[in-house]
Amino acid sequence: MTPVRVLAVASEVYPIVKTGGLADVAGALPLALKAHGVEMRTLMPGYPDVMRLVSGAEEVWRWPDYFGGPGRLLAGSHDGLELFVLDVPHLYARPGNPYVTNDGVDWPDNGVRFAALSRVAADIGHGLVPAFVPDVVHAHDWQAGLAPAYLHYDGRPRPATVITIHNMAYQGKFASELIGSIGLPWSSYDVSGLEYFGGISFLKAGLQFADRITTVSPTYAHEIQSDEGGMGFGGLLRARSHVLSGILNGIDTEVWNPQTDPHIAYRFGTDDLTFRAANKAVLQQQFNLDSSDEAPLLGVISRLSWQKGLDLLLEAIPTILAEGMQLALLGSGERDLQERYQAAARANPGRIGVVIGYDEILAHLIQAGSDALIVPSRFEPCGLTQLCALRYGAVPIVSRVGGLEDTIVDVGEARRDATGFKFGPVTAEALAWTLRKANTAFHSKAAWRRLQLNGLATDVSWRNRAGDYAALYRGLMASRPV
Ligand code: ADP
Ligand code: GLC
Repeated sequence: MTPVRVLAVASEVYPIVKTGGLADVAGALPLALKAHGVEMRTLMPGYPDVMRLVSGAEEVWRWPDYFGGPGRLLAGSHDGLELFVLDVPHLYARPGNPYVTNDGVDWPDNGVRFAALSRVAADIGHGLVPAFVPDVVHAHDWQAGLAPAYLHYDGRPRPATVITIHNMAYQGKFASELIGSIGLPWSSYDVSGLEYFGGISFLKAGLQFADRITTVSPTYAHEIQSDEGGMGFGGLLRARSHVLSGILNGIDTEVWNPQTDPHIAYRFGTDDLTFRAANKAVLQQQFNLDSSDEAPLLGVISRLSWQKGLDLLLEAIPTILAEGMQLALLGSGERDLQERYQAAARANPGRIGVVIGYDEILAHLIQAGSDALIVPSRFEPCGLTQLCALRYGAVPIVSRVGGLEDTIVDVGEARRDATGFKFGPVTAEALAWTLRKANTAFHSKAAWRRLQLNGLATDVSWRNRAGDYAALYRGLMASRPV
């Protein structure tokens, strides 16, 4: 196996900084790639949490003035991850969420913050750190989207480039004037460059200039080539479909292991699923739900945004109540949804339990204790919670989109390896109908157990999926661009 060196560029990396699935992927993929002969180092911004957690950080570069203030590039590690940290205090030394202020609005200088990240990625690509000269630069999402563009416009020999789209809805859109202050030529302000509806888009930059584009499931790779799913980039992606592919995400099966999970009340394996009942009892307590083993407990762990379709689940609450089911929802996001869920919990004590916030420990308990996990997304590039659910014996009930389509086998397909329930179109009616169907299955114990065991037998790890990335990198090296 030819060794390959890859520089990953990500704005969040689990377990250091996480707002969603991107961090999970950026944190797990490098570890899984080791077995495939890929040495991956990840470049991320030096937010306060990063500066605190990264150990052995050694300065490998220093700039007296980097995008308006002093900056340093550090090399260090955390929890088995090899990292480059861009320590530029005037851009990143801000506590809290990496993208927004405490009031939930985007930092006004996000364009410069993430241009700075991509600029150094390109420089590392050109050999800034002689000890690590990458064969491939792998950018994740819009925050790293300028890296392939800088490498392109630098006009020098360069490593191969890959961009992975985790979500088409986040496009990194800024005013065109930004070009003047981030070191790109004005010629890049062109429809064949960064120009996007009169402004610029960092995601477009990545999609335009990366040698390969991947997204996180085959079905989403297909959906984003349509005008609707492409959210403005359908045409571009159709034109570049020969370099676009979908590689499913996995999950870190050490972090998500019901046999060793320190966050759940009772650990269990395939042979002792009965311990799930004990976790269910604890979960009911924590969400102020009536204690009952017979009532099917539906779990949700999610950002509360339009994408996730949780307004549809609100509409299905009468069905949940009529069917004698319970709901435990953990989520945070749009204020309106938060308030509507809190109101639903107040109106239905013992039946609907809601925790607004971000809580890793509770997320594990929901996977271990709920009977079914609901993901009613309008679109879902991959989705990770349904994969965790499979591993924990919670039966997924998901909409028929993106990675949900690819990772769950619907009972309706009359296959012996069915793992859950899929519904479409993505409407409240279709969801309610499927909840009723799931309730019937729940009360037929053998059928439900079959679904759980099929889920537990599903490979949700990164092992094979990392192999697909390794093959992609090797293919690129074989046809090395200049
Ligand atoms: P997305 O990245 O679109 O939010 P994913 O399903 O890919 O969706 O990943 C979400 C990740 O974030 C999962 O690891 C999930 O467990 C976690 N998560 C989402 N919301 C919460 C929350 N409120 N508390 C704890 N973990 C959460
Ligand atoms: C995004 C998507 C989600 C995906 C995650 C990791 O946040 O919304 O579907 O699982 O990225 O790729």
